[in-house]
Formats: sequence, structure tokens, C-alpha cells
Amino acid sequence: MAHSITSKHRHGSFPAFDLEGREAPETLADLNRMISAAKPFVHGGIKAVLGEGPIGAPLALVGEQPGDQEDLQGHPFVGPAGRLLDKALNAAGIERSETYVTNAVKHFKYEQRGKRRLHQKPTVGEVKHYRWWLMKELEFVHPHLVVALGATAAMALAGAPVTIGRARGPAQFGEFRGYITVHPSSLLRQADDQSREIAYAAFVRDLRNASELAAP
Ligand code: URA
Repeated sequence: MAHSITSKHRHGSFPAFDLEGREAPETLADLNRMISAAKPFVHGGIKAVLGEGPIGAPLALVGEQPGDQEDLQGHPFVGPAGRLLDKALNAAGIERSETYVTNAVKHFKYEQRGKRRLHQKPTVGEVKHYRWWLMKELEFVHPHLVVALGATAAMALAGAPVTIGRARGPAQFGEFRGYITVHPSSLLRQADDQSREIAYAAFVRDLRNASELAAP
């Protein structure tokens, strides 16, 4: 059964985005140009990492924000979490090239420590700020099902805070059918091999379930 994470109105309980006199985008390419030209709302990356994949994809996967490698390479999920995501997609029988992959926050938020750029979790306000872009992007992509990878993505999609432990599984994000699962980086943080294997198997199961729900 789908958890009812319905928003109070179309864009959730978060306030509507102000286009500040700009024309509303008519295509995904228009929207992407606007995102790329917008000033970052988080401290760190200055270059937006855009979503990738086919319009009308059965599945859209939404992560938190680009990380160090994504910022350097300009593509979503190409670092350690991306490699794990690829492996899990493969195990679930899902072709990444047929899937749309994006993030709730479009810039890498980090703190510089010496030579290292340390990932910083986006605040609720930052997620709210980027939400309009995400929902607009999904309107253009029009996937059959949207998968939230982790709590930040789930909050962005639901328009309200979500506890993964309670909400994991089918969901409804406003007009989009959805599915909530963990973020692949949570698998990397498991304490030992056994818990990592269990968490990985559950993640693959979620991706397979989501893919079945997305089938026409
Ligand atoms: N983590 C995310 O949430 N997104 C990425 O693109 C990479 C890591």
C-alpha cells in the first residue's frame, strides 16, 4: 500500500518558487539552462549538476546532491555511491541508461578542509529552495515512478520531512507515483560486512519492486 505522503497543495507545504519576472521554462532544456545560470544556494560547488536520462523513463531516481566526483565530472552519481547504485541497478535488472537520474539539490555543498572537500548535508531551507526545480524537472521527464534515494530526496519530493524507516516502500509524491528507499551511501556506512550485505540485498529488493511498479 502506498504511504500517503501527499502535499497540502501541488508544491507541498513549502512556499511557491518566485520566478522573479523570468518566463516559466517550456522544456527540460530551458529549465536546465535556468538551473545552470542560477546562483548556487549552498556553500561550495558553483556548477550545477543536471539530471540525466531519457524523457518518459519508467523510473526517475532522485538522490540528495552531487558529491565531490559528481561536481568534478559534471554528472550525477558517478562517485563511490554511484558505483554502488550501478551495481544494485544491475542486480535488480534495471538499465541505468533507460533510467532518469537526478538530485534534490543541484550543487555540491561542502566545506574545504585542507585539500579535501567535505560533503555537508543540505538544510531543510536549502532543500526547499531547490524543490521547485526538481518538481518542474520531473514534470518534463514524466516518469512512471519516482524513487527517492534517502531522506533528503524523500523530503524534497514529499514537501515535508520523511522518516525512511517508517515510510520505506510505495509512496505518492503529489501527482507522482513514488517509492522510498535508502540512499546508497548508507550501505557504505554499515558497521560490518554482514549488515552491509543485508542492507544491500534490501536495497536491490526495493529497486526491483520499484521497477515492477513502474512497468506499463
Ligand atoms: N550522492 C547523491 O545523492 N547524488 C549524487 O549524485 C552523488 C552522491
